[in-house]
Amino acid sequence: MGCPAANPCYIARMNDLAGKHIVLGLSGGIACYKAAELCRALVKEGATVQVVMTQAAEQFITPVTMQALSDRPVYDSQWDARESNNMAHINLSREADAILIAPCSADFMARLLHGRADDLLSLMCLARPIDRVPLLIAPAMNREMWAHPATQRNMAQLSADGATLLGVGSGAQACGETGDGRMLEPAELLEDLIAFFAPKSLAGEHVLVTAGPTFEAIDPVRGITNLSSGKMGFAIARAAREAGAQVTLVAGPVSLAAPRGVTRVDVRSARDMRQAVQAHVDAATVFVATAAVADWRPSNESSQKIKKDGSGQAPALSFTENPDILAEVAQSARAQAGALYCVGFAAESEKLLANAQAKRARKRVPLLVGNIGPATFGQDDNALLLVDAEGVQELPHASKLTLARQLVQDIARRLRASRKTA
Ligand code: CTP
Repeated sequence: MGCPAANPCYIARMNDLAGKHIVLGLSGGIACYKAAELCRALVKEGATVQVVMTQAAEQFITPVTMQALSDRPVYDSQWDARESNNMAHINLSREADAILIAPCSADFMARLLHGRADDLLSLMCLARPIDRVPLLIAPAMNREMWAHPATQRNMAQLSADGATLLGVGSGAQACGETGDGRMLEPAELLEDLIAFFAPKSLAGEHVLVTAGPTFEAIDPVRGITNLSSGKMGFAIARAAREAGAQVTLVAGPVSLAAPRGVTRVDVRSARDMRQAVQAHVDAATVFVATAAVADWRPSNESSQKIKKDGSGQAPALSFTENPDILAEVAQSARAQAGALYCVGFAAESEKLLANAQAKRARKRVPLLVGNIGPATFGQDDNALLLVDAEGVQELPHASKLTLARQLVQDIARRLRASRKTA
């Protein structure tokens, strides 16, 4: 099954926007073509979508397309007589859980800034109950327009006025120039909108996550690794960011796109991973070690490809034990003093509870999450066993993203409790 660009396949369809009513506003810009796919993605995720278009937007895409995708007639005029009170701007804005302007042109931004009210979309934004209906803005424009002090000033003021600016992409633009100002991709906007609605239980925290396998080189073309896909760790990084944390994700060699808003550090070997963790751990308040770190590395990495010598004998390999990153971090002064909350994972093939309990004691972490490695490596779903000093709690079989969100809420609860008792 194909995945839309930048939409990591580990994210199973979840109806994350079920029950949400989104007013999707389109202003004039070539990025309107992306709004069609965004509308579809919002509907697929369970939202109801009401499209409102400016006259300029209708130069780029027709209301027919947007009506077909949203399954609702499009509104484009403040004089729309379909509303019995003839006040589309009031009715539409009162129904919305959020108004998302995508694309938001430079001109439309200026209109919002000045509180203009001479077309339905600006009028509706001005009329929205500001403390109840959030306004999210996905800018789209040429790079010079984006960089212009007027646009930057307008953005800062819109943000001060309570709007949420979703940022822009960078790259080739429809005008032929290259730079900042492209509208974010529909999958990115979807991820941002879902994150926007999530409870911010980790606001102010800095979460450091390790994920994926490590690769221990034998020679320049061969090495030892394992079947970890990194999906669970990436899902935890996404869930932590949704919960409002600043997130750093140290990733072994995996082919997943980084979740939105997460700082990613790519590493290869266990020793690289340890170095990256050491570089970021002092800023962290939570450390979640999901990586399947190789326990051993070849003692002597050959600088050249090892060739067959014709004898039929395999080359003799000897191994050196890798550092235990989690154990080191968990035994650090900050972790011991309660300034860093450490969570370990245990990938087992049998006796999950007994092994997880023993591992928790050995690594000296307050929480250890057990899972059956062979059953979950590479899959989109999993089941977890949370082992702490009090006992065991099961998170039953679900998508990795669902489990990651449950785990993140659980970690947030533990963090609050540990600070209360400190
Ligand atoms: N871990 C680590 N560094 C290592 C090995 C493991 O940080 N060198 C972390 C993993 O990220 C995980 C936890 O320790 O959070 C347990 O990893 P696991 O591979 O299940 O256990 P091991 O310590 O390798 O023990 P064993 O191989 O005996 O099961």
